[in-house]
Amino acid sequence: MGRRVTDEILSRGKVVLVLGAVDTGKTYLTRELANYLVSKGKKVAIVDSDVGQAYIGPPTTIGLGILDKEIPFHEDIPPSALYFVGSISPVRFLLPTVVGTKLMVEKGKELGADIIIVDTGGLIQNGLGRILKCSKIELVSPDRIIVLQRKDELEHILGLYQNLKITIHRLRVSPLVKARTPKMRADYRALRFKQFFQKAKVHELSSRKITLSYKLGKPEDYHHILISLDDEKGEVLSLGVVKEISLAKKYILFSTPLEDISKVKRIQFSDYRIAL
Ligand SMILES: Nc1ncnc2c1ncn2[C@@H]1O[C@H](COP(=O)(O)OP(=O)(O)OP(=O)(O)O)[C@@H](O)[C@H]1O
Ligand SMILES: [Mg+2]
Repeated sequence: MGRRVTDEILSRGKVVLVLGAVDTGKTYLTRELANYLVSKGKKVAIVDSDVGQAYIGPPTTIGLGILDKEIPFHEDIPPSALYFVGSISPVRFLLPTVVGTKLMVEKGKELGADIIIVDTGGLIQNGLGRILKCSKIELVSPDRIIVLQRKDELEHILGLYQNLKITIHRLRVSPLVKARTPKMRADYRALRFKQFFQKAKVHELSSRKITLSYKLGKPEDYHHILISLDDEKGEVLSLGVVKEISLAKKYILFSTPLEDISKVKRIQFSDYRIAL
């Protein structure tokens, strides 16, 4: 990215949204920009709103990371907050994806970030991609949008903002971008889950003491279901995976890396299963 754009961002603009199709270098650019801004003394937040290839927090979540020093790998950013979407694709989850992105941006502001960079997933095509990206733009209300384009594939989205008070920077996709196959994406996801649950232990909670988001049906339907463990504010403390549930005896057994489960007041179920 040109020095002119980075210096403009440095001096003006709090929320920057990075848009592009799949494999266009969005995450690379997000990291490079964040590192540059950190080197100039800024407190930078990244909102990773890609639920499929999540690098701040596990897949199925939108993660907020705060950088206080430069980082060589984007996976090195610990999550300061998470929002649980509960799916590895935004397709049936457009609303939670947009709401979660907004909430994480707000959290970044609350935590004192000077600049918040919102990295996005590559769903941009057709009506669905347009709804997702336009809704993100409407709700997050970025000061700037950085667009990585091969040709004009984002223009059906950008046209709506052309004459508004949002600065749009259009950049060419670098020839150095390495595309990833669906298998590489699935492997990365599996690795991210594995890392997240590496130190997980089994805990038990009485379902009398907590709110359960909804009931799936038979107890065996809950097996291996990914859950979010939320505190009294409804904010994600951590994720878990259901091992066993008894609706009659009112308990739930789950694996989670969260050590102190005393603050868990709500469990949200997803329909996503993982085998640990
Ligand atoms: N400007 C660049 N110079 C060198 N390597 C790059 C550059 N941009 C991207 N890459 C490399 O290309 C690969 C894909 O880039 P990146 O993950 O940033 O794409 P993305 O648009 O975020 O993909 P996705 O759609 O999956 O989110 C990565 O290995 C990254 O290191
Ligand atoms: Mg990416």
